Formats: sequence, structure tokens, C-alpha cells
Amino acid sequence: MEIKIVKTTTPGEMPAEEKLGFGKVFTDHMFIMDYEAGKGWYDARIVPFGRISLHPASTVLHYGAEIFEGLKAYRRADGGVQLFRPMENVKRMNRSAERMSLPEIDEKDLLEILTTFVKMEEKWVPKSFGTSLYLRPFLFGNDETLGVHAVHRATFMLIASPSGSYYAEGINPVGIMIESEDVRTVRGGTGYAKCGGNYAASTRAGERAAKKGYSQVLWLDGVERKYVEEVGAMNVMFKIDGEIVTPKLTGSILPGITRKSCIEVLQSLGYTVSERLLSVDELVDAMESGRLEEAWGCGTAAVVSPIGRLAYGDKEYVINDGKIGEITQKLYDVLTGIQWGKTDDPFGWVYTL
Ligand code: PLP
Ligand code: COI
Repeated sequence: MEIKIVKTTTPGEMPAEEKLGFGKVFTDHMFIMDYEAGKGWYDARIVPFGRISLHPASTVLHYGAEIFEGLKAYRRADGGVQLFRPMENVKRMNRSAERMSLPEIDEKDLLEILTTFVKMEEKWVPKSFGTSLYLRPFLFGNDETLGVHAVHRATFMLIASPSGSYYAEGINPVGIMIESEDVRTVRGGTGYAKCGGNYAASTRAGERAAKKGYSQVLWLDGVERKYVEEVGAMNVMFKIDGEIVTPKLTGSILPGITRKSCIEVLQSLGYTVSERLLSVDELVDAMESGRLEEAWGCGTAAVVSPIGRLAYGDKEYVINDGKIGEITQKLYDVLTGIQWGKTDDPFGWVYTL
């Protein structure tokens, strides 16, 4: 595909890597392309990073027609740069687009956009282990009319942010609150899609949890409020009495690429992973009887994050003495070893630029 490039005349500088945080600093450029029904995607361009202008009636501003992805470019131990399973993000982005009646993008083009952009912004891929260039592709409806219908005009963009760890805790265990009032999505809804609205609707519960000293909430299913689903920005896994359990993908949970990778790593190590319904009662029972051995979350931004405290109602349970468990540590080591190019990649997951 043809990508027009306009370079910035005022390149920025990478801040000190230990001060990066998550999603606060952006690179010199951004990618944009437009869509019109009947014409398809056109005018692919990389331009200096900056504000964009939207019509006040733009669909995204009124009806939330927006989807996004999150993946990272990693600096390998040998100095090169690589992506982790980027085709998984490409495919998920199109599944999200289909759910939200937004236009899909040719898989090869999307991969080419990602690689061309990362090559151009290479100097922004930080070097320290644990840091990376977080890539945020997003796509929104951009019709300039207030009627509610599938969009005829859309915009796709890609921005990038050199980032450190998502949680202030880093690899130290986080505290999570089980949410029993709000629900995130329901089956038949948009849970499996990575659309902005899922996140907008979840911040109220997130704020309540933060006030009580927890990093995020653990959602229960929206119909019976009985089954454990996922955390705000990561999927969850538990080790209960020797069994590794993760909620099965029922349609209301985001099918995480890190989740899928953790399952494949665990299976390669000889563990069985049960993808099944896990009720909050079973989880609480396991915590009360001391049979919950480990709990962790997994996601691109969160990597593998041990859960050290889990609150339900007015009770708080401490898991594994608030320390990172053996399986959690193993998964963290194997995944980050592959992602940062410190170890071999027996799965063929890395995409070197
Ligand atoms: N669940 C939610 C709600 C998320 O936002 C994320 C992050 O993308 C995940 C799970 C983990 O998905 P992935 O591993 O593909 O990043
Ligand atoms: C990611 O892990 O890429 C996410 O999208 C999480 C995010 C909402 C911060």
C-alpha cells in the first residue's frame, strides 16, 4: 500500500526511561487514513503528531462508534525491535470492527501500517527491560450527521507511547476488588470487542475500587452476577487446589492475546488449563479454605500481574501471603523472555522488524 510521509521538523526527545509510566508521552508522528463507503480506505499518511479536527456531529462523539487495539514494540536484548503476535491484534481489530459496524481493514495492510510506523519511530522504543513502545491503533465512525445508522465515513489512526509498567506496583502483587453492582457487558453485547464504550462504562466501578485502595475491579457476568469474568484491563487466572482455571470465553470477555499465550506456555510446560465457568462462590470458598494458591492477571499493558489481595463485599482475602506465586513467576519469566528477546521463541510468536 502507498503511505505518504510528512516528517516532523521538531523531533522530541525520549524522557528518562525509569520515569515513563504508561501512555503519557507520545512519539513524533501518527498514522491516519480515511474511509468512505463505496470508496474504501484512502489517503494513508504518516504525519507529525498533533491534534485532529472533527465535525461536531461526528458519529464517534455521539454514539461511541470506536474500537482500538493495544500491542507493544519491544527492544530485543541484541538491540533489534520486535512485535509480539501482531496478527492476533490485526484479526481482533477486525472482529471488533464487525461487531460495531465499522469498516474492516485488509489484514496485510494493517500489518504493513504497524511495521512501517514502528520502523519510522524506532528511536522511541526504549531499551530497559520492562519498557516498550506501546502501540495504540484505533478506528472511529466519522459521519457528519446525527442519524443513528452504520457509519459511511470512518478514520483509522495509530499513535505510539514509550511506556514502562502499567501498574505503579510493577511486578509486585496488586489488590483487586470484586464488583457486585455495575456490570461490564452481557452475552450478546460488546464484551468480546475492544470498543471504547466498554471502558467508559467501567470507570465508575474502577473509581470506587481506587478509593478503597484497589487497582482495578474483577467483573462478574452481567446476567447472573455469579461467574468471574475478567479485570478492567486484563484477563484472570487462578490456581485452586492444583487446578489452573481461567474463565472460558463466553462472548462477554475480551479474548486476550496474553491469555491465549499463557495457556499455550502452560500447556507446553505440561500443565492442564481449565477454561470453564468459575463462580464467585467457588472462588470465595477457595479463599476461605486456603485452597486458592495463586491468582494473576494477564494483558499486553499489564503483562503478567500477580494478584495479592482480593476483596469481596466487606471482606479482603490475602493470596499466597501477598507474594508472587510460582506459576505466575514462571509465566512472567517465559513471556517476558520471549517478548524482550532474551530467550528463544519456540512458539514462533515474535515478529522481528
Ligand atoms: N481484558 C481487557 C478488558 C483488556 O482491556 C485487555 C487488554 O487489552 C485484556 C483483557 C488483555 O488482552 P491482551 O492480552 O490481548 O492485551
Ligand atoms: C492493553 O493491555 O493493551 C489494553 O488495552 C489495556 C488498556 C485498556 C490500558
